[in-house]
Amino acid sequence: MERHNAEETHLRSQDWFGKTGKDGFIYRSWMKNQGHPAHQFKGKPVIGICNTWSEVTPCNGHFRELAQSVKNGVYEAGGFPLEFPVMSLGETLIRPTAMLQRNLASMTVEESIRGNPFDGIVLLTGCDKTTPSLIMGAASVDLPSIVLTGGAMLSGRFQGKAIGSGTDVWRFADDLKTGKMTAQEFEEAESCMSRSIGHCSTMGTASTMACMAEALGLTLPGSAAIPAADSRKKALAHMTGIRAVEMVKENLTMSKILTRKAFENAIMLNAAVGGSTNFVIHLLAIAGRIGVDLTLDDFDTIGSKMPFLLNLMPSGAFLMEDFYYAGGLPVVIKEMQKYLHADTVSANGRSIVENSTDARNWNADVIASVEEPILPEGGIAVVKGNLCQNGAVIKPSAASAHLLKHRGRAVVFETIEHYHAVIDDPDLDIDETCVMVLKNVGPRGYPGMPEVGNMALPKKLLEKGVTDMVRISDARMSGTAFGTVFLHASPESAVGGNLALVQNGDIIEVDVAARSIHLVVSEEELQSRRQNWQPIELGYQRGYVGLYVKHVMQAHEGADFDFLLGKSGHEIKRESH
Ligand code: FES
Repeated sequence: MERHNAEETHLRSQDWFGKTGKDGFIYRSWMKNQGHPAHQFKGKPVIGICNTWSEVTPCNGHFRELAQSVKNGVYEAGGFPLEFPVMSLGETLIRPTAMLQRNLASMTVEESIRGNPFDGIVLLTGCDKTTPSLIMGAASVDLPSIVLTGGAMLSGRFQGKAIGSGTDVWRFADDLKTGKMTAQEFEEAESCMSRSIGHCSTMGTASTMACMAEALGLTLPGSAAIPAADSRKKALAHMTGIRAVEMVKENLTMSKILTRKAFENAIMLNAAVGGSTNFVIHLLAIAGRIGVDLTLDDFDTIGSKMPFLLNLMPSGAFLMEDFYYAGGLPVVIKEMQKYLHADTVSANGRSIVENSTDARNWNADVIASVEEPILPEGGIAVVKGNLCQNGAVIKPSAASAHLLKHRGRAVVFETIEHYHAVIDDPDLDIDETCVMVLKNVGPRGYPGMPEVGNMALPKKLLEKGVTDMVRISDARMSGTAFGTVFLHASPESAVGGNLALVQNGDIIEVDVAARSIHLVVSEEELQSRRQNWQPIELGYQRGYVGLYVKHVMQAHEGADFDFLLGKSGHEIKRESH
């Protein structure tokens, strides 16, 4: 196993706090108003604790306490912790979609880190977008940085059964629609689902991101699955603080951890845990920041043949709390070791494979073995065809096997508002063999690419007992959702991708095994439709949204801003006074 070699490093914080004269006075004096004694400023590694605590990001609502545990560790290791807030994105509240602000949040992280006297960084992440936005921002600065994910909620229970965040909301909503559930039961379920601090308890996007951070090597081992309410999460926070100081002394920067091999490990492990499709878009964006060449096709080539091992909702039966008791991600890493690169470096200086040598599986119902996986092939499939030349993604483990090869008549919704207006109209010409097509919900078209790709089925079909249909859009889907849903179609309809040209009654063929998605319309006909196509009026000129629609890249490129590709490093040449 390769170990990271420590090297002596200059403390950039001393470029502020080590100064003499007027500048040093100003840098130190105002900080002293918080009660920091003079010796804290003398040659100690300054660890910035990047906090996404917010009362409107309920999944991260416990982060003040968690930050205190990190600080305890930093002090113990001889460092000087300084906590700072960044833009925090609460998935459930923020409108129109947290994805619209992911890049903005990453910019607040990047600029807050670069502009301040930090030597190393602890990133406190939890709710969906808080993990990628913090990693993206920190990667653009490339200081020694370690991630601490906040942990999932304890498992919910309702009417005697385990219920998972998000996943059961979709089921309950369908049951309410069809009268299988009363409004009173529906309301009661609200409190049962979210019974403790922490992020979504399913293998939704937050848990996927927690596993991604650990798989990339950005956390201490075993971090992803520890529940938020478990005292061991605070203990890990303390250890993360200690390690952040050591990482500064070793100059273990993010780019030493985030190599192409680390990204490949993350893709393989995402397949094994059945991670969300949002993984694709966030990992592409992170790779773009750190300068690793990663493409949409890599997710299929590297991940789609990997075994699927983790029996968690939405693809399976259990929840994150069960995953922790079964042994967490180190067990999955140990199972997958014959596929993984062992010569990577993680935050503790060892590879993720070396860190997992002693892992033991305490519940084979939760974590299956490579020899007897839940499915021999997990991961995310990338389909291409004349409907989306740059690709669309699907998570086969969350889809219905009988629909993975399908030919059906398109029923088109021009916008999400159009969908809502007509979906439950008894006269809507639709049956279970149709293909639901939703346009103008991509990065530019919405804007912000919301999680609406798993459109609910028409009421009249739900009442018939239909549980799944083929759905295609340029949107994303919540990681807690399921179904035969093709997402992230690129180019999106708002920029004139062929998705924009689909009409009611067109025949669409999908074949996941063949990785194809095809609109059965002649090229001549498409050409004539293209000439008559009018882009929708975006109507966003000013402010952040104006900047977003001008600069956001397509889904297959990670939907980052074109001007944020690459990194600017941590050097600041000019003084502030
Ligand atoms: Fe925050 Fe699911 S809503 S993690």
